[in-house]
Amino acid sequence: MAKLSILLVLLILFTSSLCCPEDQKQALLQFKASVINATASSKSLGVTFETWNFSSDCCNWDMVNCSSRFGARTVIALALSSLVLEPFWYSKVLSSTILTPLFHIRSLTHLYLSWSGIYGELPGDGFANLSKLVYLDMGSNCFNGSIPSQLFHLRHLEYLDMRLNSIQGILSGEVGSLSSLRALWLYGNSFVGNIPKEIGNMTKLQELYLADNNFFGEIPSSISYLKELITLHLMNNSLSMQIPLHIGNLSNMKDLILSYNQLTGRIPSSIQNLTELESLSLENNLLTGEIPSVLFNIKGLKHISLSGNDLPLNKNAKIVPKCMLVTLSMNSCGISGEIPNWISTQNTLTFLDLGENQLEGIFPEWLAEMKLTTIILSGNNLTGILPPLLFNSPSLYMLLLYQNHFYGELPDNIGNASQLGFLMLGRNNFSGKVPESISSNYKLMLLDLSNNKLSGQALPDLRSNELLEIIDLSSNEFSGELPTNLSSVTRILVLGKNKFSGSLSRNLIMLSWLEYLDIHDNKITGELPDYLSQLSNLEILNLRNNSLQGSIPSSISNLRSLRILDLSSNCLVGEIPTMFGNLVGMIEKRNKSSSFLRFSGGVTPAGTYPSIRFNDLEVNWKRSIQGLSSHNLYLYTLLDLSRNQLCGEIPASLGTLKALKTLNISYNNIFGKVPTSLGDLVDIESLDLSRNKLRGSIPQSLGKLQQLTILDVSNNNLTGKIPIGGQMDTMINPNFYANNSGLCGMQIQVLCPEDLSPTNLPKNESKETWFRWEGVWIGYSVGFFVIVGSLYINGYFVPVPSTRRHQEVWQWK
Ligand SMILES: *[C@@H]1O[C@H](CO)[C@@H](O)[C@H](O)[C@H]1NC(C)=O
Ligand SMILES: *[C@@H]1O[C@H](CO)[C@@H](O)[C@H](O)[C@H]1NC(C)=O
Ligand SMILES: *[C@@H]1O[C@H](CO)[C@@H](O)[C@H](O)[C@H]1NC(C)=O
Ligand SMILES: *[C@@H]1O[C@H](CO)[C@@H](O)[C@H](O)[C@H]1NC(C)=O
Ligand SMILES: *[C@@H]1O[C@H](CO)[C@@H](O)[C@H](O)[C@H]1NC(C)=O
Ligand SMILES: *[C@@H]1O[C@H](CO)[C@@H](O)[C@H](O)[C@H]1NC(C)=O
Ligand SMILES: *[C@@H]1O[C@H](CO)[C@@H](O)[C@H](O)[C@H]1NC(C)=O
Ligand SMILES: *[C@@H]1O[C@H](CO)[C@@H](O)[C@H](O)[C@H]1NC(C)=O
Ligand SMILES: *[C@@H]1O[C@H](CO)[C@@H](O)[C@H](O)[C@H]1NC(C)=O
Ligand SMILES: *[C@@H]1O[C@H](CO)[C@@H](O)[C@H](O)[C@H]1NC(C)=O
Ligand SMILES: *[C@@H]1O[C@H](CO)[C@@H](O)[C@H](O)[C@H]1NC(C)=O
Ligand SMILES: *[C@@H]1O[C@H](CO)[C@@H](O)[C@H](O)[C@H]1NC(C)=O
Repeated sequence: MAKLSILLVLLILFTSSLCCPEDQKQALLQFKASVINATASSKSLGVTFETWNFSSDCCNWDMVNCSSRFGARTVIALALSSLVLEPFWYSKVLSSTILTPLFHIRSLTHLYLSWSGIYGELPGDGFANLSKLVYLDMGSNCFNGSIPSQLFHLRHLEYLDMRLNSIQGILSGEVGSLSSLRALWLYGNSFVGNIPKEIGNMTKLQELYLADNNFFGEIPSSISYLKELITLHLMNNSLSMQIPLHIGNLSNMKDLILSYNQLTGRIPSSIQNLTELESLSLENNLLTGEIPSVLFNIKGLKHISLSGNDLPLNKNAKIVPKCMLVTLSMNSCGISGEIPNWISTQNTLTFLDLGENQLEGIFPEWLAEMKLTTIILSGNNLTGILPPLLFNSPSLYMLLLYQNHFYGELPDNIGNASQLGFLMLGRNNFSGKVPESISSNYKLMLLDLSNNKLSGQALPDLRSNELLEIIDLSSNEFSGELPTNLSSVTRILVLGKNKFSGSLSRNLIMLSWLEYLDIHDNKITGELPDYLSQLSNLEILNLRNNSLQGSIPSSISNLRSLRILDLSSNCLVGEIPTMFGNLVGMIEKRNKSSSFLRFSGGVTPAGTYPSIRFNDLEVNWKRSIQGLSSHNLYLYTLLDLSRNQLCGEIPASLGTLKALKTLNISYNNIFGKVPTSLGDLVDIESLDLSRNKLRGSIPQSLGKLQQLTILDVSNNNLTGKIPIGGQMDTMINPNFYANNSGLCGMQIQVLCPEDLSPTNLPKNESKETWFRWEGVWIGYSVGFFVIVGSLYINGYFVPVPSTRRHQEVWQWK
């Protein structure tokens, strides 16, 4: 009997030791309940807790791992990444307080909580409990606040020498810190503050990912104590000051990524002691001095990115590299002289970016032979012809040579570069025709030949370049009919400033993905065809300065995405279509900030595209021709119909185009009144109605336009009082009111008759007027200005965010 009960006790002990401890199960169930509760309303739960029930062993639950050391089972790993669904990864879904139960599971060694919409501050006390943690991944959440330094304090072992850390495995019960941690991943949150210097206590650390946060201050020099460190990833913070002098002590370092910060000073020479280094990225900092040539002695170094620093290569230093680079990126480093010869020894090189430097000389033959994937030499002072050999490369994918002084004809064998995806040769002096062989660059996605002296009546047939999305041939000497033998995936077609002639061909509608069509400054004739309205993705249409005739078809208003329409300087007649009030793209404000230069996939080792400089869109913006950068073109909404022979009245429906920033109908024969509805254009910054035959008064509604900075109504037949209020009080350039039939108002310092009439006296007491009758008795000129001045002091005018206005009013006094 006794034996049996002992057996029973043993059995109970045995079976219970196979299950996870009750307190850990309770903690996990509590965690489950709070996650389910917190995600319930948004339906954002991204995992299933199906197996997490009270009656089963938590060691068998999904996302939970146990160890069974010393006969007892304990939870050691929780893989809780993507607790929320993808669209909620960066939303504040789960408060960091949901982690509280997990701090009772002190046996945890691995905790993964990335991509889970967790927000709030890192509970330092709680994590100090998890002293056995080896891996902690909390990347890509919304944590804020600073890293609590108690994470790193050896609270109970303060007297311990660093060298004694090796015995921590045994003493860990007393250690109040994460000093066993080998991987700390906190990238992609909103952490702020300094990187605590106590991080030097995490001597086991091998991987530290703090990228994409807002850390500032210096990189603590204590980081050089982390002898085990293999990866240090601090990209995209606001770290400043110098790179720790003794960084070279980290003899195990393989990846040192400090890019996109504000680090200053020189690259410490100790860096040559990082003998295991494979990747070094210091891109986009404020580093100065020379690139230490000893860097190239590190045998294993494969990727160097120093772009965007003031780091010239010493021209006299003889570099005999011992490394075999795959990536060399030194864009905008202030490098001068010829393309360094030693690069020719780098047989494994695939990516070379020496763009935006002051390089001179020719495109070396040896470089053409190297069979690189990416060659970026844009923005230099290189000259000569392109070696044809370059295009025999079976791997060439990206060739960016824009903004140099290359000349000559484009090599005939251009089509031999079978992998070529990006070809940007703009802003050079290339001449002659585009080689026919370009039709066989089947992988071509982007072709920029703009700003050269290329010519030809007919372009090669590009229909077989089935990936070609972006074509810029602007500012050349091309002539003949507009090219339409293009791939049907063409999104951007820029042909401005050439000598193209003929009419807008019906074949254009085959390009059904077209978003951006720019043909300005050519010799296009004929009418604006109805079928343009079939280009349903069109967002930008620029036909400025051609010889288009006939009237504007109403059907253009079917282009739902159209945001920028420039038909100025043509010979268009007829009325402005009333239907323009339906241009959805000019009504709805866009909040999506998509650039036209979006591509799928990446090409640099970091998986991103090098910054490509694409030509600006030239439009008449605030009375001068300006380039709008392709990177933020999505911000602009514009309608320019100026310099035609349009007649009729301004359709009141234009007032619905609430997203418009510029409306220009100047230099036409528009008559009738200015519709009150123009006061509904809440975003308008520039309104040009000049050189028409408008009559009546300027509607008072324009006083509502808070963004207005330019209003030109000159050379019309307008009368009456210029509206006041809001930005109208700042529209005081007399030229913009000149040559009308009787405008008056304080903007042009002309008194209006109604303000002088004694019968208006009671009405004038109302707050609607800027002028008081009594003032007139004091004497016309003196009284006028004194009273305007004092009204201003009394806050009578609505203050506008412009100091200029302030000064102007006081000048009158
Ligand atoms: C569930 O969430 C609500 C608020 O959303 C809270 O009041 C309640 O206490 C939570 N319940 C549990 C069990 O956490
Ligand atoms: C609990 O989960 C286990 C699987 O882990 C399942 O076999 C069992 O039926 C579940 N029990 C309840 C009450 O849901
Ligand atoms: C849990 O254990 C399984 C099987 O041993 C293993 O594949 C997995 O990586 C472990 N998960 C964690 C988070 O440690
Ligand atoms: C640390 O763990 C113990 C139990 O192991 C628990 O009582 C305590 O509340 C935990 N501390 C925090 C801050 O969660
Ligand atoms: C962190 O975010 C929470 C809300 O998400 C806010 O209440 C708290 O003040 C923030 N803390 C810091 C230090 O910014
Ligand atoms: C380690 O932590 C202790 C206790 O907080 C501190 O005194 C010591 O300076 C730390 N060491 C480093 C290198 O930060
Ligand atoms: C930099 O980090 C912020 C988060 O702090 C992120 O939103 C942004 O996309 C990052 N920038 C780059 C270029 O990765
Ligand atoms: C780094 O090494 C140098 C000797 O090369 C030594 O003087 C220095 O104390 C070390 N610093 C750290 C932080 O390890
Ligand atoms: C490189 O390390 C050696 C010892 O390994 C040391 O003597 C030397 O000073 C270090 N060089 C630099 C520049 O830190
Ligand atoms: C570029 O080279 C030309 C001669 O080829 C020279 O006149 C010019 O000054 C150079 N420009 C720069 C910025 O170095
Ligand atoms: C194109 O490349 C092939 C080999 O890849 C070569 O035989 C041929 O001569 C090249 N064509 C031209 C025009 O250079
Ligand atoms: C301007 O309008 C007045 C009447 O309002 C008219 O007499 C005059 O002819 C008009 N002038 C022009 C140039 O249209």
